[in-house]
Amino acid sequence: MKILSVVGARPQFIKEAVVGEQLRRYGAHEILVHTGQHYDVNMSDVFFRYLELKKPDYNLSVGSGTHAYQTGMSMIRIEEVAIKEKPDIIVVYGDTNATVAGALVGAKLKIPVAHVEAGLRQKPKDMPEEINRVVTDHTSKFLFCPTKKAIDNLKLEGISKGVYFAGDVMYDLFLRLKDSIDDQKVLEKYGLQRESYILTTVHRDFNTDNEERLRNILTALGEISYVIPVVFPMHPRTKKVINQKNLWNLLGKTRVIDPVPYHELVALLANSLKVVTDSGGVQKEAYFAGVSAIVLMPDTGWIELIEHGWNVLVDADKDHLIEKALNHVPPSSMPKELYGDGKAGVKIARILVGED
Ligand code: UD1
Ligand code: UDP
Repeated sequence: MKILSVVGARPQFIKEAVVGEQLRRYGAHEILVHTGQHYDVNMSDVFFRYLELKKPDYNLSVGSGTHAYQTGMSMIRIEEVAIKEKPDIIVVYGDTNATVAGALVGAKLKIPVAHVEAGLRQKPKDMPEEINRVVTDHTSKFLFCPTKKAIDNLKLEGISKGVYFAGDVMYDLFLRLKDSIDDQKVLEKYGLQRESYILTTVHRDFNTDNEERLRNILTALGEISYVIPVVFPMHPRTKKVINQKNLWNLLGKTRVIDPVPYHELVALLANSLKVVTDSGGVQKEAYFAGVSAIVLMPDTGWIELIEHGWNVLVDADKDHLIEKALNHVPPSSMPKELYGDGKAGVKIARILVGED
């Protein structure tokens, strides 16, 4: 069984770390394609090194650009690889331009596509990730859902064949690595004390590329930073916009650092008092770590965490953000196994290699 896995952006390296390992364990011959969408050392190489990912068999060096450029170049180059390698299945992860490119290539070449993290839906419907999710789900043959809600979402769109509840692969990884991370070392590196700071990440295009929203968010973080330390590993997209618009002064005493490797992110999350984020992965990892997240979005694919009161949606409302970041108290208990049993990678691999 030959499987071609497509990755390109930071969250996909993390998901591939789980699924790729299991695919190879169950005897698949895996060809790994990196589209090159993320290319800085701290956005790509650090994940390959720390998570011991397979070295990509192909790096397509697509880099940054418009959506059409990134998706189009990725498609052209993935197609060349797929024609040469003739895989039995193409695996794609999440909702980036690399995801939709891999899915469209597979569908057009009639190679079955497996979508890991299928069925998530969120408003606004015109956000790039939502477009990528819908197209990918409608062109996939295997749809591995991280939540029960995702299965319901697919049903509403008439998709029920090939749909599996796998659980969340990021939960697998979190469980596997959390005890091996030296939290104290990371806290010392950044001069932080346990449960006495807020961790924030911001990179969503509707927040960075809309000046009013960005100003609201940065101003709120700035105000919060005078009450409690705020640490902000900053995505290059956000840094670029803040530089262009010269908005650094809004951040007050916020401590801005470069993007951190996965184990540092987990340590920073697990020891924080609260998380403020627009990241899909981080809002869920916060829950895994027992910390609640204030979510800078109007809606989220991880809606169950909002419904149970663990996380809160504040969109880009400055006052709401400040109030919730400082005062939100999550419930004392949560339903078990919202994201599966930590064996999503095994389930996905067994189904793809035909053992289940
Ligand atoms: C992409 C995904 C988003 C995901 C995020 C994870 C799409 C449409 N978006 O968004 O869903 O949540 O990755 O982090 O696929 N840049 C660098 N160095 C890099 C990578 C990017 O400087 O290594 C800068 C460039 O200026 C680039 C900008 O960041 O133009 C945006 O990068 P891009 O990959 O287009 O989108 P993300 O915002 O990273
Ligand atoms: N992450 C990391 N270092 C950082 C920020 C994020 O290791 O400085 C990890 C974190 O585990 C997160 C994943 O990268 O879940 C993907 O995050 P990102 O916010 O880039 O993408 P999204 O999940 O929103 O698509």
